[in-house]
Amino acid sequence: MDKGKKIKAIAIDGPAGSGKSTIAKLLANELGYLFFDTGGMYRAVTWEALCRNIPIDDQARVTSLAENVQIDVRAPTVDDGRSSDVLADGKDITWDIRRPEVDENVSIVSAYPGVRKALTAQQRRIGLRGNVVMAGRDIGTVVLPDAELKIYLDASVEERARRRFLERQSRGEMVDFDEILEMMHRRDSIDSTREVAPLCAAEDAVVIDTERKSISQILDYIMSLVNTSLVV
Ligand code: DC
Repeated sequence: MDKGKKIKAIAIDGPAGSGKSTIAKLLANELGYLFFDTGGMYRAVTWEALCRNIPIDDQARVTSLAENVQIDVRAPTVDDGRSSDVLADGKDITWDIRRPEVDENVSIVSAYPGVRKALTAQQRRIGLRGNVVMAGRDIGTVVLPDAELKIYLDASVEERARRRFLERQSRGEMVDFDEILEMMHRRDSIDSTREVAPLCAAEDAVVIDTERKSISQILDYIMSLVNTSLVV
C-alpha cells in the first residue's frame, strides 16, 4: 500500500464469487467513487458474440467484435437491483450478461489476448480519471498497476459456489449446486492459467480471506486501510 497519498484508484481482484462486486460497490458508495465492474465488459462481449451467432471458439471474429462493439458500463439508471448499467452499442444488456450461457463461455472469451487488449485500454482510460473502485481479475497487476490500494479477495471454491447458488436461487432461477461447483472449478482453471494477465494477487495487494467474515467486517477492514493510507 502506498502510504501518504490520496487514494485515486482502488483495485479489487479475486476469483468468481469472492465478493468483489459486492464489496467494491459498497466501498465506492462509501467513498463517493465510481464503481467499475470490468467483468461486465468481458461478459458483454460474450453475450454479443452469442447473440450474433459468432462461434465462441472463433478467436479472430470474437476479437474483432471486442474491437468494434461499443461497451458502456455506467452508474445505474434503473432501480431494479443492478449495480451498473451495461450497454452494447446503446442496447441495455445488464441482465443478459448474467445468464448461465454467458457464465459458461466468458472465461474462454476473456482468455483471448486481442479481447483483453481492446478492453484493458478502455478500462485503463476510465481508471486513470481517478476516484474509482475497479473490480476484476487483473486490475492490480495489469490495468492499474499504480493503484494506491490493491485488495485481493479470496474464498474456497465450495464457498464461492455456494454464494453463486444462493444468488441465482434468489433471482428465482432453477439451479443445481454441483453444476455451479463444476463451472467454478472450470472458470478458476481457465482464469488462472491463461497466458495473458492470469488471475493472481499483485505483490503489493492486501489479501483478504472472505470466508466466515461478514460483508461489513470486510468493508470495515478495507475502510481502515483507506483511512490509514490517506494524506499524512
Ligand atoms: O467477475 P466476473 O465473474 O463478472 O468476470 C467474468 C469473466 O471475465 C471471468 O471469467 C474472468 C474475466 N475477467 C477478466 O479476465 N479480467 C477482468 N479484469 C475481469 C473479468
